[in-house]
Amino acid sequence: MLKILLLSTLAALSLAAAEVNVYSHRHYPSDAELFKRFTAQTGIKINLIKASSDELISRLEKEGKNSPADVLITVDAARLHIAKEKGLLTPLKSKVLEANVPAHLRDKQGYWVALTKRARVLVYNKETMKPSQLSTYEALVTPAFKGKVLVQSSNNTYNQSLLAGLIVHNGEAKAHAWAKGIVANMARKPSGKDVDQIRAVAAGVGDVAIINTYYLGQLLASERPSDQAVGEMVAVYFPNQKTTGTHINVSGAGITASSKNRVEAQKFIEFLSSPEAQSVFAEVNYEYPVNPKVKPSKLLASWGKFKEDNIELYKLGENNAKAVKIFNESGWN
Ligand code: FE2
Repeated sequence: MLKILLLSTLAALSLAAAEVNVYSHRHYPSDAELFKRFTAQTGIKINLIKASSDELISRLEKEGKNSPADVLITVDAARLHIAKEKGLLTPLKSKVLEANVPAHLRDKQGYWVALTKRARVLVYNKETMKPSQLSTYEALVTPAFKGKVLVQSSNNTYNQSLLAGLIVHNGEAKAHAWAKGIVANMARKPSGKDVDQIRAVAAGVGDVAIINTYYLGQLLASERPSDQAVGEMVAVYFPNQKTTGTHINVSGAGITASSKNRVEAQKFIEFLSSPEAQSVFAEVNYEYPVNPKVKPSKLLASWGKFKEDNIELYKLGENNAKAVKIFNESGWN
């Protein structure tokens, strides 16, 4: 009896080895499809825990060495940098990642690697605004935009990183004045997520919104005609083309310091950088691939090429606390 128990425990242990525990803030349908394909190809099971990056980071801190997590995936470069600074990640060296992901989209010491790129752009109502009225993020605080600007809460990591970028480019005082100026020009108090700002532009609540590109992609590709109609009412504008470039952020991954399945975890991250996985990110979730061998989806390509802000991504993390403080002082709730 004891022998059978021992044998079955051993069998369970050896089976349990082929798995990767993933803590992820990504909340998109592309990911379930990718996890399924990875398991089918490798036999390695993915156990997923989804929460916000901040929740996942504080959970990793509390769990310490005993954390079951192997991989942390966030939707913001600032969070990857913060996780690294807190000692929650371990560096990975991989020829595959070096080949698949350009150097500026990888942490210099290998603590994290970007998996997808997203542009934080403006969308405007095609009936009430012309692209010639738009130019930069900075110009949105001028009187011409009074009561017209839609943007979500400052709790949102995408906005925090956008402001961190403005701190780096323009300095703290100007970033502060910008945040206050946006609050003064808001069409309504921040409400809902990026996709809700697009809906509000289409509904005429305001004329221009700050959003990540893929949310418009999701609406246009929706099976619901009402969503498609919303998407058709707006157009994309890439701001700051004559100045610093459009703000770019990434979703990315790192292996946790506590990982007990490092080999499998590395295989998993390498798979996500492969042309196969990168086209799923591009085609299913309308993100820009980081792997230069993979083209953006037709829809994204139709919006045209644009100049990207080439600020080093770790600086978004370095300036995150300052950005949060400025938002609080400016009344951007
Ligand atoms: Fe998102």
